[in-house]
Amino acid sequence: MRLWGGRFEGASDERMAEFTRSIDFDHALAVDDIAGSIAHVHGLGRAGLLAPDEVETLVRGLEGLGAEVEAGTLTWDPALEDIHMNLEAALRERIGPVAGRLHTGRSRNDQVATDMRLWLRRTIDGLDGAMVEMERALVGLADRDGEAILPGMTHIQPAQPVLFAHHLLAYVEMLERDRGRLTDCRRRANVSPLGSGALAGAGYPIDREATAKELGFDGVTANSLDGVSDRDFVVEALAAFALCMVHLSRLAEEITWWSNPRFGFVRAADAFSTGSSMMPNKKNPDPAELVRGKTARVIGGLTGMLTLLKGLPLAYQKDMQDDKPALFDAAATLEASLLVMAGMVSTLTVDRDRMRAAAGEGYTTATAVADALVRRGVPFRAAHHVVGALVVEAERGGIGLEALDDATIAAALAASNDSVAVTILGDAALPGELRAAAALDGALASCDVVGGTAPRRVAAALAAARVRLGV
Ligand code: ARG
Repeated sequence: MRLWGGRFEGASDERMAEFTRSIDFDHALAVDDIAGSIAHVHGLGRAGLLAPDEVETLVRGLEGLGAEVEAGTLTWDPALEDIHMNLEAALRERIGPVAGRLHTGRSRNDQVATDMRLWLRRTIDGLDGAMVEMERALVGLADRDGEAILPGMTHIQPAQPVLFAHHLLAYVEMLERDRGRLTDCRRRANVSPLGSGALAGAGYPIDREATAKELGFDGVTANSLDGVSDRDFVVEALAAFALCMVHLSRLAEEITWWSNPRFGFVRAADAFSTGSSMMPNKKNPDPAELVRGKTARVIGGLTGMLTLLKGLPLAYQKDMQDDKPALFDAAATLEASLLVMAGMVSTLTVDRDRMRAAAGEGYTTATAVADALVRRGVPFRAAHHVVGALVVEAERGGIGLEALDDATIAAALAASNDSVAVTILGDAALPGELRAAAALDGALASCDVVGGTAPRRVAAALAAARVRLGV
């Protein structure tokens, strides 16, 4: 029964068999394993190791298994340890002893390394689509409510006003980098280890390049030991997944704050909220919280994989079998998180008035007022002091900077002892100029650099994102 059983006399201990088998999770590799086997059979045929009719029988049999996998009718036998042996046994049941020629010049070591790369390749392609969907949701919200003004914060304290669209586009930038990381990872992963054998290289003149080409790989691994024991691509993928989850988690954190009534900036749709079993008043942004929570799992997958590898000598070690649960779980978690966040973001209700009111609190336009003084020739450091003094005055009076009277402004300029400030304090136009700079729209418009929050810059960034995403 056991494909490796030749030298064994006794039966396996049930505890050992249960402990070492991987079929419970590596059945996810079924389609990849079949694709790898078909290419390998073709390679064996080209090398003259299989007769043409054997190639045909094997390929037909494998394609039949593929159809059964797709239909979900193939069942897995736990006694057969892993996906590779399950499929080989199923093949033998269907086509007979010729199935015994399939494993010529191949080990499960190069086989599983090939499967994992094929699996990762198609998984990355799916995740890229989910990332695009998330970006489209952000751009859609920016289109709908992007003119809203948000209190931009540093240290979680009011800092400077920013357009809501500008804030959303920051996440689009993060997701674009995430996509780039996956593309890089895919490129490095996309080489074929098939033909590395167990560790020393296959014992037959297999044209590895031809097999690789058939499987859509860009080339072959250059060293057989490395070919069977390299799991860098798993680490790279987990790192890229973890970082993307961190980005989603930061957005999730913001959405939870914004939807707190004290902020009241956004409301999650009923479809993306849950209630409390006890408190009838509750409406909770559960999906966002859970995305934040699940980020821990994906980060755990990354640290777990690095730890798994750190003590492994060359070449294949059974430890490597345990790369799969974390990788599969991380990819599924990331995909689900991207899709639920896309849904949540695209159904948010934005309260522009609440946002605007909050953006005006905390003297967020003070920098713009200082900049206006600099435009009049005052050195920035002196301007900073003058406006700091104006903030104190406004705070004392319980008013905004845009409501300060001429006399207060003149007094602050006089007290600065800056030669330019003292010369311009008599200029009748100046106080009005400073009050205009203190208005939210004036402050926004003044950040007119590439990447800044001035409305025309944000409109250009949004247009570029739309083109990139085809929306
Ligand atoms: N199930 C194994 C894994 O995922 C396949 C490779 C097993 N190789 C071996 N020599 N036992 O790692």
